[in-house]
Parts: sequence; structure tokens; C-alpha cells
Amino acid sequence: MTILDDLAQLEEGHPSREVIERLLKLEGDEQQQLFHQAREVRYRAGVNRVTLRGVIEISNHCQKSCDYCAMRSPNGELERYRLTPGEILAIVAQIAENKIPIAFLQAGQDPACDEVVAEVIPEIKKRFGLHVLLCLGERPRSTYAAFAGLGADSYILKFETSGSAHYRAITRTSLAARLDCLRHLRELGYAIGTGNIVGLPGQDIDQLVDDVLLALKLEPDFVSASPFIANQSTPFETSPQGSLATTLNILAIYRIALRTPLIPNVSALEKIEVGGQRLGLEAGANVMTVNFTPRPYQEKFNIYSKQRFVVGLQHALSTIESAGMERLRASPTVQQAPCPASIG
Ligand code: 5AD
Repeated sequence: MTILDDLAQLEEGHPSREVIERLLKLEGDEQQQLFHQAREVRYRAGVNRVTLRGVIEISNHCQKSCDYCAMRSPNGELERYRLTPGEILAIVAQIAENKIPIAFLQAGQDPACDEVVAEVIPEIKKRFGLHVLLCLGERPRSTYAAFAGLGADSYILKFETSGSAHYRAITRTSLAARLDCLRHLRELGYAIGTGNIVGLPGQDIDQLVDDVLLALKLEPDFVSASPFIANQSTPFETSPQGSLATTLNILAIYRIALRTPLIPNVSALEKIEVGGQRLGLEAGANVMTVNFTPRPYQEKFNIYSKQRFVVGLQHALSTIESAGMERLRASPTVQQAPCPASIG
């Protein structure tokens, strides 16, 4: 099999384990061929402009104790916070002023913020007419239904790792229950996002191939891959970080096999290497998340590092330009017209 055969099989959408494994490992010229194909698919699928979304990290309380994340409940060193509805809506106004079409509310798994979320969703719709994206963790179906009824449009729940035993070992919770949540979200009409962490301790190549296969099987509306970053105040703080090259290869695989999804260009790429997010766009990503969390809270929302890379609007716009792309100005639900940006 040549790389051209592998890419053809990937584009048909049902790649074998062997094909995925070979593509995951590509380097040098062949890796560039993979990225080129991803850009071509993005162009042909009509999703070649970059969607901006504005994230507000509304609470860093968390019920869970994931070994990779410093917001885990046993971390007593972290000062916890929750934003008020008034604070959130004032920030949404800034997102709207910057002509960013998506208000993205993110938190640790903190059911205590559900009332606040329920209060702000209708206000965001009524006052600003923005698309509402949530990333709040696992909830009963009835809570997801209530948020949808109030106007929430989409929801991110990453599976992180697809091995049930691996997932339980590092999160002490059930992967099946998490996947049930994703199913409920989809049934309720949300656009769903998911994704995985590349290079988690305990992950081998077979596991990573399974992760890619699960993401393809879920056929999400958006999908991301994030390199693992060893975080202070976690059991994994001395573990080696994930591979940027492998993460980029996975983004390209998602783009080619799934064609149309929004693929976020996560800030962890830039944290791992300066210019990492330009590489993410060149590998097929088409979303940049601009951080609108007030500065004092940013370092307390330490999902992968106290010194995480916080994406501002200027960084997002210059990254888009450096990749030869353009910003999408319409709402993400509007079909994009083919874009003249080069695919070379
Ligand atoms: N390294 C990489 N990604 C991480 N996330 C959380 N902690 C880490 C880490 N140490 C990602 C997870 C989570 C998202 C909010 O951040 O995928 O879903």
C-alpha cells in the first residue's frame, strides 16, 4: 500500500486499523501530503473559512478527579470561582461586539452552575442572538433537555480516551455513561462535539487507533484532538507530553474522513510549540476559540497548565492570516460558499 492508497481509503470514510496506524506515524514529505489532502478536502467541502467562537470559563469547580487535569476536585491548592449571570452577560456583550457568532460557556463538571446557565441562555439568545455552545460535562438527560429548551445549540463532551478500562483508571468514572450523555445530546437536537487527548499516560498506539475509530464512528459535528500536557498538581505532573506531530496527523485524518465538521484548533497546540496553531490550521482545523474569561480567573481555569496559552483575538486573527485563510463572518450554521483561500 502506498500513501495514495491509504489516503484514498481514508477519504472513503472507513479506514482500516492498519491504514490509520500508518497515517498516524507519517513524518516528513508524506506527512505534508496528508496535510495537503486535508486542506483540499476542507476546500472542496466548503468549510475553508475559520469560525471564531468566544469562550467564557464560567466555573472551575469540578466533581471529577481526572488524573490529567488540575481542576480535579482533590486539588485543594486551586482557588475556585463561579461567575455571576451579570458578569457572564457583560462578557457576552464583548463577544458580540467583536462580531464573533458563538458564545461558548465552559466549566468544570459543576451542577451548581446550572441555574446560572439556565438564566443566561435565554438572555444570550434574546439580547445578542448568538449561537450558544456549552461544555459543562455530564448531566442527566433532563438538564440537557432544559438547556436545549432555553435555546442552547451545541455541546462538547470529549470522550478523551476510548478504552473503557483506561478511561476508568484515569477518571474513576464510566466511559459508557459519558457516551450515553453524548447520545442524549444528539437525540435532543444538539450539534455535538467530541474528541480525544493524544499521549495520555497509559496510551499505546493500538489505543490511539481505537480513539480515532471511535471519533469517526460518532460522526460528530465537531471534533478535536489535543496533545497531552503534564499539568502541575496532578498525578500526571511528571509524565511526558503528547506528540504535536501525531496530534496534527489525527486532525488531518478527522478532516479527510469526516469532511465537513468544525475542527477546533486547540490552544494546547500553541502551548506545545510556538506556531502550533498555524500548523493546526494547515492540518485541516477550521475553528479558533478566543478567550474572553476575565484575566484574574484565566489562570484559575488551569485545564492543562497554570501557564496555559490564552488565545486573544489578535493572536487568532494573525494565526488565520499566517495560514493563508480567512475568518468566517456569517453564523456557523449558514452554509459556507467556496472560499478562494489557497489550499497549497
Ligand atoms: N492535556 C491536554 N488536554 C487536556 N484537557 C484537560 N486537561 C488536559 C491536559 N492535561 C482537555 C480535555 C478536556 C478539555 C477541556 O481540555 O480534553 O475535555
